[in-house]
Amino acid sequence: MPRKILVTSALPYANGSIHLGHLVEYIQTDIWVRFQKMLGNTCHYVCADDTHGTPIMLRAEKEGITPEQLIDRVWHEHKSDFEGFHVEFDHYGSTNSTETKEFAQAIYRKLKAAGLIEVRSVEQFYDPVKNMFLPDRFIKGECPKCHAKDQYGDNCEACGTTYSPIELINPYSAVSGAQPERRNSDHYFFKLSDLRCQEFLRKWTRSDTLQSEASNKMQEWLGSESESKLSDWDISRDAPYFGFEIPDAPGKYFYVWLDAPVGYMGSFKKLCDAEGIVFDDYWKQGSDVELYHFIGKDILYFHALFWPAMLQHAGFRTPTKLFAHGFLTVNGEKMSKSRGTFITADSYLKQGLNPEYLRYYYASLLNGTMGDIDLNLGSENEGFIAKINSDLVGKYINIASRCAGFITKRFEGKLAGGTSIYPIERLQSHAPVLAEMFEKREYNFALREIMSLADEVNKFVDNGAPWVIAKDPAQSQNLHWICTNAIQMFRLLTIYLKPVLPNLANEVEKFLNIPPLTWKNAQSLLPDGHVINSYQHLMTRVDLKKIDAMIEANKESLQPMTESHSPARHAEAQQHAIAPIAETISIDEFNKVDLRVAKIVNAEHVEGAEKLLKLTLDIGEAQPRTVFAGIKSAYDPEKLKGRMTVMVANLAPRKMKFGLSEGMVLAASGDAPGLFILSPDDGAQPGMRIK
Ligand code: 2FM
Ligand code: ZN
Repeated sequence: MPRKILVTSALPYANGSIHLGHLVEYIQTDIWVRFQKMLGNTCHYVCADDTHGTPIMLRAEKEGITPEQLIDRVWHEHKSDFEGFHVEFDHYGSTNSTETKEFAQAIYRKLKAAGLIEVRSVEQFYDPVKNMFLPDRFIKGECPKCHAKDQYGDNCEACGTTYSPIELINPYSAVSGAQPERRNSDHYFFKLSDLRCQEFLRKWTRSDTLQSEASNKMQEWLGSESESKLSDWDISRDAPYFGFEIPDAPGKYFYVWLDAPVGYMGSFKKLCDAEGIVFDDYWKQGSDVELYHFIGKDILYFHALFWPAMLQHAGFRTPTKLFAHGFLTVNGEKMSKSRGTFITADSYLKQGLNPEYLRYYYASLLNGTMGDIDLNLGSENEGFIAKINSDLVGKYINIASRCAGFITKRFEGKLAGGTSIYPIERLQSHAPVLAEMFEKREYNFALREIMSLADEVNKFVDNGAPWVIAKDPAQSQNLHWICTNAIQMFRLLTIYLKPVLPNLANEVEKFLNIPPLTWKNAQSLLPDGHVINSYQHLMTRVDLKKIDAMIEANKESLQPMTESHSPARHAEAQQHAIAPIAETISIDEFNKVDLRVAKIVNAEHVEGAEKLLKLTLDIGEAQPRTVFAGIKSAYDPEKLKGRMTVMVANLAPRKMKFGLSEGMVLAASGDAPGLFILSPDDGAQPGMRIK
């Protein structure tokens, strides 16, 4: 009997780009879903953009657009990033939908009727200029411990202390700069401390719904029966807020984390309506359909405590299992904008790097635990480049590229018959154990096993040496037999790799002239006389130059627009709204910067640089200066020639990949698209000092 399964990945925030860290999860989930579908199970995969909250509201305001316009634009960007990496959702929605709103309100009403909602007055910082309550991350001030300036309201980046915003010295609003006031307002709480919630969660987190490490962590967070650590959860925010209004509570909105997971239901409901699936079969209490949430370990708290408690007490089923994964490091360190390792999905694709390299590489590291994985881009001899070049190109693709040509040229594309040999049977017999590995999300083991099978196939080809026997007409039949067997085995390997490399598998299906491969197809072989198409090269080696260019393009110093600098994924913690005015400096400090009027005598593109233009600047010196400026996205070099602008003339020269940069031109930018270089008024001459 085919299983019925509903799968989700965490909903990405609609205020930032998808990056390679996000993709660990979407690729992990997509591989699992594709595997289930290949097995013939009914498996639906849904996701959506997580669209509500203060950061999104403020960002839209800054860009001069509505939040709806902002989330619509980002939705399209996210959709295309996912498609670019072959992450195939059955539905990709938005939490800002009627369906999500209705479910969120219905759940709230049920919780209220069950006596699990309580209203309490809460004192919070209020921005008297913006007329809004400030989330912790929008309050800045001096760290009470180490006295570092401009620290966020929840923790100090200098000394690592966590505190409440009330403890900050000289707090100010990061939105308006105003000194915040302390005001009271009514907040709505979900009473997790209620015995019913506690009892339920103690059971739920102990059952096999969680990985053991996660279950231990949750038990720790829950505390003991006599000493519960669960406190009630504040689920409301005051207007102005971009989100859903709480029923019968004008001016009060659901906190973004209340409706985010409800987005799983909302997105699935859309799919149900489009495809005639019965929603209740999947979500009613007692449903035996499997429901799995793939998430990062940082959001376990929300998914293992708040979410099941909400569902349980609102009469819905709870998840079958949560699959939490670890974080991504790049070259052994946290992703960093200054090192260029905070790599967006879009910039990877723009370099022309094959998305299946990344799918394969991640899969080769992923297992069922919450351990972190590292994307090693540092060397050609190990990590990403070596793995792809040696496994995919050197082992797997190599089989087809060494044998297919003979079938086409010598045997009119026809395969030979009588191909039941030991290596083929060995490959076929691996289907169940590989299936088990995919099922358990032990992709690392699966790929290791598949590559060792590929080694065996390559040995078979080496021994048969088709390129040698091809020269001897008497060996024609043998040549046909060897190449046919190699192609049969290449097909079997393709079946096993298909969840990881769906696009490549489609190309192989075209080449082999066969319908889409399923897992069951591993039990059969292509028949005698089957005609294949001529072989076109399926995958090239990773080009180191593209990797270098991608890292260069992601370096913060070159980016005209920077997003939230914090990779932290916590709801309101996502972003500073408006960059506050920098620390006060003296006139002497300012005078250290030698600003000059510069004439752009030449401007040109730089080969291999995605963001840079090479400018030649005359500032009245004997030799013009060369400056690499990250303004390619906004300016046509031809139009810059002859223009006057402003440069920092005493900046230490910087050695860049493309040459020495001897200064910097200034440009204005905000969060909205656009980048604007400066011009002096008419009459200013090259070399004039600006002070
Ligand atoms: O951490 C995050 O990026 C959240 N936007 C994830 C939400 S997952 C689910 F609950 F919606
Ligand atoms: Zn500090």
